[in-house]
Amino acid sequence: MREKLNVLIVGSGGREHALAWKIKQSPLLSRLFVAPGNGGTDEFNVPVRADDVAGLCKFAQRNRCFTLIGPEMPLSLGVVDRLREAGVVAFGPTKEQALLETSKVYAKRFMAENDIPTPSFQVFDDPREAIEFSDSKEGNVVIKADGLASGKGVFVCSNKEEAAKAIHSIQVDKIFGDSGQKVVVEEKIEGKEASLMALCDGKDVVEFGTAVDHKRLLDNNRGPNTGGMGAYSPANTLQSNDVDRCIQKIVKPTVRKTKFSGFLYTGLMITKNGLKVLEFNGRLGDPETQAIIPRLKSDLLSYLFSVSTSVEGIKTAGNLEWSKLVSCCVMMCSEGYPYKVETGYQILGLDRIRSDKPLIFHSGTVKKEGKFYTSGGRVLGVTTLANSLKAAKEGVYSVVSQIEWQGEKHRSDIGGTNWG
Ligand code: GLY
Repeated sequence: MREKLNVLIVGSGGREHALAWKIKQSPLLSRLFVAPGNGGTDEFNVPVRADDVAGLCKFAQRNRCFTLIGPEMPLSLGVVDRLREAGVVAFGPTKEQALLETSKVYAKRFMAENDIPTPSFQVFDDPREAIEFSDSKEGNVVIKADGLASGKGVFVCSNKEEAAKAIHSIQVDKIFGDSGQKVVVEEKIEGKEASLMALCDGKDVVEFGTAVDHKRLLDNNRGPNTGGMGAYSPANTLQSNDVDRCIQKIVKPTVRKTKFSGFLYTGLMITKNGLKVLEFNGRLGDPETQAIIPRLKSDLLSYLFSVSTSVEGIKTAGNLEWSKLVSCCVMMCSEGYPYKVETGYQILGLDRIRSDKPLIFHSGTVKKEGKFYTSGGRVLGVTTLANSLKAAKEGVYSVVSQIEWQGEKHRSDIGGTNWG
């Protein structure tokens, strides 16, 4: 029997709550910590911010923690490099490997140089040149801020005015600060979307589930892009040979070239000309994780630790086992999200949910004297599992209807009409 492990999960979103929920079930776990966590992970929380790299290293070293990084910000700061220098076993990409997510310019150039299929693009430092180029495409383009923007740095435009406004807000108004020094202006392509997660050890790759995220704020895919309003898994927009094709033609070449280790998220568009990569992320998706993790039957902790510590990595870690059930996760949000939100409202109804075993993953919540209060834009992700997407969708909305707080908002069409 292997020695039990202390685990530190870095982050404070629904993805980290889902990881904590899964890892808590592992027979290999000794103590679990989440830094800084949220109301749902309250019993495990430690007061170290996710961007406090020195604080995280000190805590992980002192408590001998196997460390998993949830969000992109600490990855962009090189937390994995610093943890490893401190002798801590950490799962996630180095700062350089995380560039696949943290710089859209780097990622697009990497794809172009390595024959990874992706929409055509140009990079601009000068907003006037970016607008001129978008005008030449009648504004039918996608504008992306180069750096991190909490999932809000992508603007899908349909006319010259929309494109010019997006470029102006990124490069002139600097709504994302230095992340907007450069923009990518990308060809707008049509198709269905899917997110494919892969677990990578620097050489080898194993699929870690697929999902369809719903990024737009409003029903029928209207309104601004958000961090994600809900997801279902597996992605019925992908055929089984699409998954294999993506692993062989996109993920493996990327991992081998960059020696990427950690979770690699590939955002795909399935077009009539085949798969195209819209984005890479150096981490699991949120809310995709809240839909994917409940379908994982294998012991995640044992798998990740074995991949992180054995020389052979994935080759000797064995297969991951997945449930055949379908999951659907709906994000419940504060009024005003993805812009300015008011928080501090008590969340009501959690203690009287009647449905059978829903999973409620907290994002922007705090716990005070046994009660939960809103503390962010995305507040709760409710997930249910069922034999079909239709049943999972019905199940999840019956739970969502039992939870409330002042100004609560959610989409009513997660799971769509494309029921598999
Ligand atoms: N759901 C999109 C993301 O995690 O980036």
